[in-house]
Amino acid sequence: MCYAIPGQLIEIRENGGGVVDYFGEKRNILLDLSDAAVGDYVYAQGGILVRKISTEEALEILSLWKDKFFELKKMDERLSHFSESDLPANTLQILQKVNLKKPLSRQDMLALLKLEDPRELKVLYELANHIRHREHDNASCIHGIIEFSNHCRENCHYCGIRSDRVVKRYRMSVDEIIEVAQHAVDEYGFKALVLQSGEDPWYDEKKLVKIVSTLRAMGILVFLSIGMRDKELYQKLYQAGARAALLRFETSNEDIFRQLRPGASLHERLTLIKQLKSMGYIIATGFIAGLPDETPEDIVNNILLTQSLGPDMYSFGPLIPAIDTPLAAQSKLSIDAMLKIIALTRFVDPDSNILVTTALETLDASAKKIALLAGANSMMINVTPMEYRVFYQIYDNRADRNQTVKVGIQSALDLLYSLGRAPTDIGVVEATLTS
Ligand code: 5AD
Ligand code: SF4
Repeated sequence: MCYAIPGQLIEIRENGGGVVDYFGEKRNILLDLSDAAVGDYVYAQGGILVRKISTEEALEILSLWKDKFFELKKMDERLSHFSESDLPANTLQILQKVNLKKPLSRQDMLALLKLEDPRELKVLYELANHIRHREHDNASCIHGIIEFSNHCRENCHYCGIRSDRVVKRYRMSVDEIIEVAQHAVDEYGFKALVLQSGEDPWYDEKKLVKIVSTLRAMGILVFLSIGMRDKELYQKLYQAGARAALLRFETSNEDIFRQLRPGASLHERLTLIKQLKSMGYIIATGFIAGLPDETPEDIVNNILLTQSLGPDMYSFGPLIPAIDTPLAAQSKLSIDAMLKIIALTRFVDPDSNILVTTALETLDASAKKIALLAGANSMMINVTPMEYRVFYQIYDNRADRNQTVKVGIQSALDLLYSLGRAPTDIGVVEATLTS
């Protein structure tokens, strides 16, 4: 995993890009491996070539996949139809704009966010799924995530591992992280791993460079989620082989940001996200929905701000009030409120990758499936060792707290297959190749 199937490199371009063929389906990728040649079979992740494999091995895997690949595609196509019958004129008009690829105004976005009627919501989600299918076909990516430290110097009001909260803290050693990653790659076949922690300077440049370069040499996409660290450090980690970074701006509303992240600055966070993008990182960013005093206008601004950052992946989820935090008594959003945000994001940025987050699954046990049918196309599986996972309590009762890696993978694959999705690579747009 991503359980990405291998594809054949059929073209190499001067700009450092190339084209990979998956059973006739062409995807643009960034080469990022010096010795790849046309005709090679390769794995790509997040649109980046991460590993070559032998022709013999590739053909064997592809022969196992061939029938399944087309069978899944047919199923996804069947499931991604939508019908616009019975809609009130106003909603119909907005959805037709979406379908005709015309931009939505803020007013349109607000009107969609305010929909409550189950029949209208059904069409909204169906259209989002239809667009997801139009843009990505049935490709869905699954990354693994290792939560390697729950130490954090920040004190965000919403977070269960904020510095003020008394929780058992852990740090995985450099060797332990490498061992867990190697196991995830060898035993489970992961081809992209997210390294997540609180903001923990104990992991200095030397430690992080060692981890990143060792993981990159395993032939995987190394995805960092380590918070507000120095730009120079991120630059060094890029040189060491990290290619993706997850950093949410959390909220576009400066007042809410200031209140919930004492001492931190929204401006600095946005600046770092932009800097990471210009260093060449694949960017995943987004926000928490359902923070106190948040208005529908804030949600619209959150989506538009995410879009303006040019992310490769949208990562947003609902606030899950964590006990012993200042937001413990905050009420939760409904699942429909979140599905509307997913659908709207798909409309605003049709070819985006939209992650189903663990927070969403924690809100509703069936969220993964319904979110994948409302515009989402990406997910993560927790590969943190069980002994540590219980302590990474950003919020309580996390959906994946008791799920072994094996069960996590099996249930993700069962779900994808039941929806006709293939865990292929997600591809990149041309613009990313030339920037
Ligand atoms: N509920 C939902 N998401 C949370 N995060 C932190 N605390 C919570 C919570 N209580 C999110 C933040 C952070 C990510 C790692 O976890 O958005 O960026
Ligand atoms: Fe630390 Fe992130 Fe939690 Fe804030 S949200 S306290 S930065 S782990």
